[in-house]
Amino acid sequence: MQKLTAAITGIGAYVPDYILTNDELANMVDTSDEWIMTRIGIKERHILKEEGEGTSFMATKAVNDLLRKTNTSPEEIDLVICATVTPDHLFPATASIIADKVGIKGAFHFDLNAGCSGFLYALATGSKYIESGMCKKVIIIGADKMSSIVDYTDRSVAPIFGDGAGAVLLEPSEEGLGVQDMILESDGVGRQFLHQKAGGSVKPPSHESIDAREHYIFQDGQPVFKWAVSKMADVSVEIMNKHNLTADDIAYLVPHQANMRIISATAKRMKLDPEKVMINIERYGNTTAATLPLCIWEYESKLKKGDNLIISTFGAGFTWGAIYLKWAYDPK
Ligand code: UT7
Repeated sequence: MQKLTAAITGIGAYVPDYILTNDELANMVDTSDEWIMTRIGIKERHILKEEGEGTSFMATKAVNDLLRKTNTSPEEIDLVICATVTPDHLFPATASIIADKVGIKGAFHFDLNAGCSGFLYALATGSKYIESGMCKKVIIIGADKMSSIVDYTDRSVAPIFGDGAGAVLLEPSEEGLGVQDMILESDGVGRQFLHQKAGGSVKPPSHESIDAREHYIFQDGQPVFKWAVSKMADVSVEIMNKHNLTADDIAYLVPHQANMRIISATAKRMKLDPEKVMINIERYGNTTAATLPLCIWEYESKLKKGDNLIISTFGAGFTWGAIYLKWAYDPK
């Protein structure tokens, strides 16, 4: 019997209308467009301003876009996985909220938290349900409302993050397209450098935790940078070597968009020309679980059936990994 592989057969996305520019940020904290562009490479980011709306608001729009583009009805979906660090609520899963809003019935759903690696880990997980034959249509979502946990008085964090959502449809391929291989790695030692101090079971919300601003992102940027720059490049080169791929064989690197310097270092280690690197950090910032699908969504019209992609990421945990994927369709 032909081995089933899990192919991405469509992509949808959504970013909020409101654009927070570096100049506007410079009125909120002591920073400048020049510092942010040189150190990170971000010009602007989209922010969800709708009162009372969270991550599922954006993800629902992304999934509706995906279903429309792929001409899929919600009843056909078997599984929904939502990667996020900013769920609507601690429970139930945001995936279930999205599924309900979209009209998906009879599927199972769950959230997955692997920091900025969430989408890649969810893609890896979803592909196994397809390869095993258990599911035929799986939706993988990467969505985050980072503005809900960013302290806009902290200049070390405020410029970095943005809001957005992306979703892909995974279906079985009998042509060997889609996910070819993956390398996933984690090291919990990284938790000290990137975390949210309060709001979980160790430190439930209290007046004190709010006064101490402990519900916002804490990041010690330099160690995170050092780990990210080496691990994202290591794992990308490792998966290339494992499959005897040279830079010529690769159509695009799809890198997590955390810092332009990390992306460039990864591409350099892979010996890839800059035009083979998907980049949109300048306009969206780091949208955590949404960076990878937002990149693929923007480059979709340039991708051809059979193109080799290396998707790689690094995030809180620490978590990191790479997926080698063959693109499954020509521009429509
Ligand atoms: O997506 C999950 C994984 N996350 C990442 O991959 C993020 C990795 N880390 C980074 O990208 C970088 O470490 C940052 C962008 C967060 C920071 O860049 P950096 O080059 O590591 O800067 P730094 O923290 O070493 O700070 C350098 C200087 C400091 O001033 P002094 O001590 O040299 O006087 C900071 O106070 O820059 C100062 N600084 C700022 N200046 C203007 C820090 N933030 C700002 C700011 N504007 N926004």
